[in-house]
Amino acid sequence: MPIDFARIPRDALPALLRSAPKAELHIHIEGSLEPELIFQLAQRNGVALAYPGVEALRAAYAFTDLQSFLDIYYAGASVLIHEQDFFDMAWAYLERAAADGIVHAELFFDPQTHTARGIEMGTVIRGLHQACERAQQQLGVSASLILCFLRHLSEEDALATLEAALPFRQLFVGVGLDSSERGHPPEKFAHVFARARAQGLHCVAHAGEEGPPAYIEGALDVLQVQRIDHGVRSLESPALVARLAAARVPLTVCPLSNVKLCVFKTLAEHNLPALLNAGLCVTVNSDDPAYFGGYLNTNLLATFEALPQLGVREAYQLLRNSFEASFVPPAQRDRWIDALDTAFRAAAV
Ligand code: HPA
Ligand code: ZN
Repeated sequence: MPIDFARIPRDALPALLRSAPKAELHIHIEGSLEPELIFQLAQRNGVALAYPGVEALRAAYAFTDLQSFLDIYYAGASVLIHEQDFFDMAWAYLERAAADGIVHAELFFDPQTHTARGIEMGTVIRGLHQACERAQQQLGVSASLILCFLRHLSEEDALATLEAALPFRQLFVGVGLDSSERGHPPEKFAHVFARARAQGLHCVAHAGEEGPPAYIEGALDVLQVQRIDHGVRSLESPALVARLAAARVPLTVCPLSNVKLCVFKTLAEHNLPALLNAGLCVTVNSDDPAYFGGYLNTNLLATFEALPQLGVREAYQLLRNSFEASFVPPAQRDRWIDALDTAFRAAAV
């Protein structure tokens, strides 16, 4: 039976968005480190921070672009030393995810941020993986890991990173590409993505956040990615939009991130409605929730509040896309979509 969207009032959306089952596909786990946990870990590990306290650190979260954020984000990650620290960070996120109705999360992590400080690859991956395992057992949340290469570093460094991670191949499902986009086109990482594909790893890449549509094309053509992270600048190229729509390439869009990093001036000016109208498989995500003003439900609620042209149908489509774009077996994906349908049907009056 189809869902009768006309019978679901728009003012039912906040509660429905909060409680409905959903997946998160674009969350940098180091970007979930709240200032309180940063200071707790700094004290536990004897790491000195450039800020006197939580309030001063939070006050520094006034970003002008991607790079101004990355500088402070990498500094925050410097408190992570032991396996337990990586576990604690991921567990804190997964508990919040469960409270947001997230039933599946694919977590990005940036190993080079840690290995460059002398932390072993195994320390990073084992700590994160144990949190994912416990989330399944204790929270009923499915979670998997995607290893991201830092694009401001060389491809040689990325290749060495992938080699160091291969002993833990069973503990992550894919590779991604993040950090400073401008001046670091996807083509720079052709070999390391080919090597990852040969290992059967899923491939995604940040593209078209600050970079031009050509970077999205490069990620598709050269890296052969299955999803584009952000991708909001795709609208500048009608040919690219047609291609993304025809191939149903998902775009993992992060509305609050885009406003904090000045990609859009306000949420009301975000092009998410236009992306949906163009027939693209868009999902909503939190990116770096501790830095950008909120977790997934906060992103969803703020987006629907700022953009009145988005209705119940669009809410359903965005949540459904989160499952369709995920790297889970089709039978599991279909069970979650059934649960989503049930939640929307129950909201009809
Ligand atoms: N863009 C690129 N790199 C990142 C981001 C982002 O939004 N967050 C963490 N690393
Ligand atoms: Zn991101």
